[in-house]
Parts: sequence; C-alpha cells; structure tokens
Amino acid sequence: MSKIHILSSTDRPNSNALKVSEYSQSLLEEFSEVETFSLSDFPLKDVAGGKYGEDIEAVNEYNDAFLDADGFLFVVPEYNGGFPGILKVFIDYLPFPKALEKKPVSFIGESAGSFGALRPVEHLQQVLGYRNALIYPERMFISGVNNQFDKKTGLKSDKLQELLEGQIKGFSEFVELNSNGRADN
Ligand SMILES: Cc1cc2nc3c(=O)[nH]c(=O)nc-3n(C[C@H](O)[C@H](O)[C@H](O)COP(=O)(O)O)c2cc1C
Repeated sequence: MSKIHILSSTDRPNSNALKVSEYSQSLLEEFSEVETFSLSDFPLKDVAGGKYGEDIEAVNEYNDAFLDADGFLFVVPEYNGGFPGILKVFIDYLPFPKALEKKPVSFIGESAGSFGALRPVEHLQQVLGYRNALIYPERMFISGVNNQFDKKTGLKSDKLQELLEGQIKGFSEFVELNSNGRADN
C-alpha cells in the first residue's frame, strides 16, 4: 500500500486548510496509508535571519518526516491572491534537488472568495514543476469554504463532493502507479 502525506499549507491557527486536510485524510485512508502534516509545526524560528544551505536539525527532522512518503497532497489556502508565505519558506528549505523529484503531487485549494485558490494552486504547480514533481492533473478548488465545507461531512454540493472523492481516489491510483521507492530521499 502506498503512503501519502498531506500538507496543510499554512501556519494559521484553526485553519480551514487543516480541517480540509483531515477530512481528505479520512477519504484517502480507504486507499492509502496517510498522515497529515501542518506548517504550523514547521520550525520557523530556526530559520529566522536566513539559514539557507545550513544544516538545521529541526528543519531536517521536519523535512525527513514529511518526505518519507510516495506522494504528497497539498491543501492550499489563498492569501492575497497567492499561497501562504510559510509554504514558500518550507519549499525553499527542502533538500535540493532531490526532495520532490519525480514524486506524485496533488492539490486542493480553498478560499473564502469565489475562485477557490485557483491562483495559488496554479502558482504552486509552477514551483513544484520546477522541482520536477509529477503533477496529478486533476485539481480541486473549494470556494466559499466557510459555507461550502463541513469538517465532518465534507462539501455541501453533491457535485463538488463527487469531484473531491474522485480526485482522492484518482490520486491514490496515480501514486501507486508512480511509486518509485522512498529509500533514497
Ligand atoms: C492573510 C490572508 C489573506 C487572504 N487573502 C485572500 C484572497 O486573496 N482571496 C480569498 O478569496 N480569500 C482570502 N483570504 C481568506 C482565506 O482564503 C480564507 O479565510 C481561507 O479559508 C483561509 O484559509 P486557512 O483557514 O486555511 O488559513 C485571506 C485570508 C488571510 C488570512
């Protein structure tokens, strides 16, 4: 069985991203071994001042634990038309170049507004494309997240719920097909 790690891609307390991540985990568990990580646990204070290229124990620990999977599902909120700054900091401290190379990645956007984090997800696709990740082509966009999503029952719209379930199942199959081992990260 393949292993998928979900990243709740913000450090905002009580975030919708974490609720969507945990709900997505409950769906994914039917097909894969799953763990949810939150960037609220990223050791931000250890990189203050700019520690690029340095060996930072707390960052290594966070990255090693996160990267020990066959595929990665990013749950991404929209902040000012982009993805949260903490997510770019996290990516900039991932081991280069190997971290996500040829690793399956998938995206769920969520926002209060009408576009469901389309812009942040498309930008993140560019960034992870640069890191040679294997991008699963179906994305999910949750707009009006505070009204449209319930942490226990999922999406209020049957159509959107069907899309979410389809993405989760499809991504687990994509990971299974493209799983290329975890040992050499
Ligand atoms: C700093 C910040 C900037 C935001 N900018 C946008 C935005 O550009 N477009 C939008 O639709 N919602 C915006 N929102 C609302 C969030 O997308 C919405 O509250 C979302 O659920 C927040 O995700 P989170 O709970 O995972 O942090 C913003 C929220 C924050 C905190």
